[in-house]
Amino acid sequence: MKINAFANDFGSEITGVDLRDPSDELREAIHQAILAHQVIVVRDQKMSPLEQVSFTEHFGPMEWQENKQHSHPDHDKVLVLSNEIRPDGTAVGVVDAGDYWHSDSSHHEEPVMYTILQSITNPATGGDTDFCNMYAVYDALPDEIKAKIDGRYAIHHVSKKLNPRTNISPTRPGAEDFYEFQAKARPEVRQPLVRTHDETGRQALYASPRFTLRIEDMDDAEAQPLLDELFKYVTDRKRPYHYRHKYTDGDLVMWDNRCTLHRATGGYGLPEIRRMHRTTVVGGKAFYKPAAA
Ligand code: SIN
Repeated sequence: MKINAFANDFGSEITGVDLRDPSDELREAIHQAILAHQVIVVRDQKMSPLEQVSFTEHFGPMEWQENKQHSHPDHDKVLVLSNEIRPDGTAVGVVDAGDYWHSDSSHHEEPVMYTILQSITNPATGGDTDFCNMYAVYDALPDEIKAKIDGRYAIHHVSKKLNPRTNISPTRPGAEDFYEFQAKARPEVRQPLVRTHDETGRQALYASPRFTLRIEDMDDAEAQPLLDELFKYVTDRKRPYHYRHKYTDGDLVMWDNRCTLHRATGGYGLPEIRRMHRTTVVGGKAFYKPAAA
């Protein structure tokens, strides 16, 4: 196994391993690599959906899959992300998955800890995934902003209908109805604005343009400009906290949602197909623990 760290130690490439049926030693090496680099890119993998499930389960309980109409036929916890449309107009996978910066399932009480994305089909151009290091963003914040957000909570929700920072993709069949339904059916969830990583003990900004609607106990007149200011650190890719992954066949990318945000960058379209198999591991509830004085 060889590990090459990317710039600023954010992200790393792992070669020379086969993740099907990993030994305890290999699994622990993957775990340590992800704690050190937050995003890992494992080259030359070819896992079947069932093998991907078995690999994922080594890291904890898998997330319950809400979007079962886009599950892989071999296992309902493998979510298919794809822009492919069947002749009857229905979508093979989730078409607009991850189109705004987010941490997976932060709209759930117990959000996703790890996401594992296996690239199955790539378009010739586009289809990259951007990652942002949220430890580095937190560390870069001025002290007066840290003083405003440390220990505070923000409200997260899945429906794009409730979030003026997002638009609903016109290429996803049924999306308007889906988000209308979610707006009524899903509860709001409060999450700490600053999240303490339960393994590394480091603080990370834990808010996203995709899921964070407002700040608890703060007037929108103050909270929305503050969120806009925080999101500039994420959306301004000139700052040194980012890694953009360009897929090659056989890439498996795994990331730690406790301390990163990501987004699918798009930039491709039919007849070119992008298809990914996505599995997720739930972690515990997010929390904030003040740094020792
Ligand atoms: C995701 O947001 O989980 C998927 C990102 C991607 O498809 O690039």
